[in-house]
Amino acid sequence: MKGILLAGGSGTRLRPLTQVISKQMLPVYDKPMIYYPLSVLMLAGVSEILVISSRAHLPMFEALLGDGSHLGLKIDYSEQPRPNGIAEAFLIGADHIGDDNVALILGDNVFHGLNFSQTLVQQAAHVDGCVLFGYRVHDPEGYGVAELDAAGRLIGIEEKPVRPRSDLAITGLYFYPSDVVDIAKNLRPSARGELEITDVNLEYLRQGRARLVNLGRGFAWLDTGTRDNLLQASQYVQTMEQRQGLRIACLEEVALRMGFIDHESCQRLAAGYGGNDYGEYLRAMAADLARPQG
Ligand code: G1P
Repeated sequence: MKGILLAGGSGTRLRPLTQVISKQMLPVYDKPMIYYPLSVLMLAGVSEILVISSRAHLPMFEALLGDGSHLGLKIDYSEQPRPNGIAEAFLIGADHIGDDNVALILGDNVFHGLNFSQTLVQQAAHVDGCVLFGYRVHDPEGYGVAELDAAGRLIGIEEKPVRPRSDLAITGLYFYPSDVVDIAKNLRPSARGELEITDVNLEYLRQGRARLVNLGRGFAWLDTGTRDNLLQASQYVQTMEQRQGLRIACLEEVALRMGFIDHESCQRLAAGYGGNDYGEYLRAMAADLARPQG
């Protein structure tokens, strides 16, 4: 499966924080925001990733992540000249997708929860239509909202409904087969002038090829859209990391755990942090994982 990470948008709501840098480059506690969605693609087993952003913001992402080879990844970059909507990612990324399935993740979505990698890998193994991930929120009006029948089957999707039919938001992580490119080609812009991801998902639903995985309670799907949400996301990561001494979305650790890099490479990356606490965490973690388990 290929990956697309969409880091577009002008971050209007967060200005002046986003006056000169991309929203997805802002810190979520101890890492740039883009680390979190990137780690999700990696946890799904995806190593070929296309990062899409504006011309102004691409150079910084390239400086941060390079070609991804240090993480055992292949990262490419493409420009989205104007914020024409999430579904435009499939037109920009058509060559990247080719005949493969694709996982699309939005660059401002933070996910964290038990066995998430297992869930992702399991779902990625059966992508015969769109796979959506639902999450209960108290303010569904701000999202794509799923409607389920009594048996829990997906029967409707509405984008930012005034009167939501459920409290199940559709998160910014989606799996599709390669025919998503053809579906995207036939989309018309919505009233707000965008190619809507919800219209893509509705087409799969019409074809009887849409499924929703409920992430359930005890899981965290965090928003970073406003300054308060952004701060809360940082505080969540701080709380979890300080309590357990385990880092969330530490890309080098994820790369090692997923087998994208070996222990020696991880130690070299750790040494590159000049002895700071992030590097020290990596060093200790890599040494720990190198020890025979049991
Ligand atoms: C987009 C999608 C929406 C989804 C949300 C998740 O909304 O259109 O369906 O629930 O991402 O973050 P946007 O944030 O672009 O308004």
